Amino acid sequence: MNGKFPQHFLWGGAVAANQVEGAYQADGKGLSTSDLQPQGIFGAITPRTAGDSGIKDVAIDFYHRYPEDIALFAEMGFKCLRTSIAWTRIFPQGDEETPNEAGLAFYDRLFDEMAKYDIQPLITLSHYEMPYGLVKRYGGWGDRRTIDFFERYARTVFERYKHKVKHWLTFNEINMSLHAPFTGVGLPPESDKSAIYQAIHHQLVASAKAVKACHEIVPEGKIGNMLLGGILYPLSCKPEDLLETQRQNRDWLFFGDVQARGYYPAYMQRFFRENGIEVAITEEDRRTLRETIDFISFSYYMSGCVTADPEQYETARGNILDMVPNPHLASSEWGWQIDPIGLRYLLNVLYDRYQKPLFIVENGLGAKDRVEADGSINDDYRINYLNDHLVQVAEAIDDGVEVMGYTSWGPIDLVSASKAEMSKRYGFIHVDRDDAGNGSLERRRKKSFYWYRDVIHSNGASLKDRR
Ligand code: BG6
Repeated sequence: MNGKFPQHFLWGGAVAANQVEGAYQADGKGLSTSDLQPQGIFGAITPRTAGDSGIKDVAIDFYHRYPEDIALFAEMGFKCLRTSIAWTRIFPQGDEETPNEAGLAFYDRLFDEMAKYDIQPLITLSHYEMPYGLVKRYGGWGDRRTIDFFERYARTVFERYKHKVKHWLTFNEINMSLHAPFTGVGLPPESDKSAIYQAIHHQLVASAKAVKACHEIVPEGKIGNMLLGGILYPLSCKPEDLLETQRQNRDWLFFGDVQARGYYPAYMQRFFRENGIEVAITEEDRRTLRETIDFISFSYYMSGCVTADPEQYETARGNILDMVPNPHLASSEWGWQIDPIGLRYLLNVLYDRYQKPLFIVENGLGAKDRVEADGSINDDYRINYLNDHLVQVAEAIDDGVEVMGYTSWGPIDLVSASKAEMSKRYGFIHVDRDDAGNGSLERRRKKSFYWYRDVIHSNGASLKDRR
């Protein structure tokens, strides 16, 4: 693998505020949509009452333990750490005029800690959560005023952290609102397609406004979008399967098309018309959308297949999407199909389409780990998964794709997004906590910790081509 990764490749890991921080009411933080889903994205939406405790309320207590965790990331040689800012720490209800200083101060401390080790922050403005206050009072992203509240929040954090944070992302997996509207745009799960696409439109406009603000306030910074890279293959070479695959890939590529090109792609007109979807788009919105992102970022865990005869096949659920399983691939314990070559393919698809630098900001294997009697955790399955994906990243770089970096998902065990489980572990670092919230929260290095340290130190030269 020698020499394939560029010299300043941003190696690291990715977490999200609501999955690691805990401290869900500390220092003036308001309730977020994530706080209302203690069982995860696919769990019920429950009103919170005092003393209620979902697992995310403490999560892995990163809010208090971040110095220890950053030191461990530094030990692995991280160049970059992706995390999100919890919007509700800065604007607890979402519509305040002035930010919450205690919330701003927390991220100052966090970024200063990272700077001690030369770890660059990659910051997502909104990762699967928004202030619940905006949902209650305005109906979330369904209301145009949410664009202004988001812009105020984005401008506030750009101003505050402009000397500390140079890489930003707008909305995590922006395409997932189609499948989980409460988490994505603060709409009830049963919302109709017009309502969802209207809210998505508002979010796309807000994303473009954040891009503009970032370009003004952090001129030497870079801001990207973030897509759930759910690449789909036709189940067969039947032309109908191919066409349906193109259609379904456009469901998510649409978001990248708007964010990278600055306008709605032509194919959406027919899609809206044939599905009876009406979206109000003003001339000013169209002008705003022209402010495009600097790079594309995405998550990649699995691929899936598409057939034009779906009733003949059983689908399997990934974290967000339902897909027809690929008969040529094995699956993880959670039924996610493992496809390293799909990552090379996806990198090429995105680069062909946009010719913008790409950043893989999530990839990893959720698995159950066993702590041996001597305290060791021998997670060879995780090492193999990550190794094989990184080998394909190297191939894509060789194909000519410009890849800025790779932040593996959950470098430290965290609460899973879909079902709020601790037992679905992604980390190089084990956290002593179970699904019921028992455990000391003690951190422990797994075998993969040392493996990833070697990968980073050798800039990928230690990877093994196991094909
Ligand atoms: C991505 C999300 O969809 O997948 C993360 O951006 C999430 O927040 C990750 O954790 C893995 O999904 P899960 O459900 O295994 O946590």
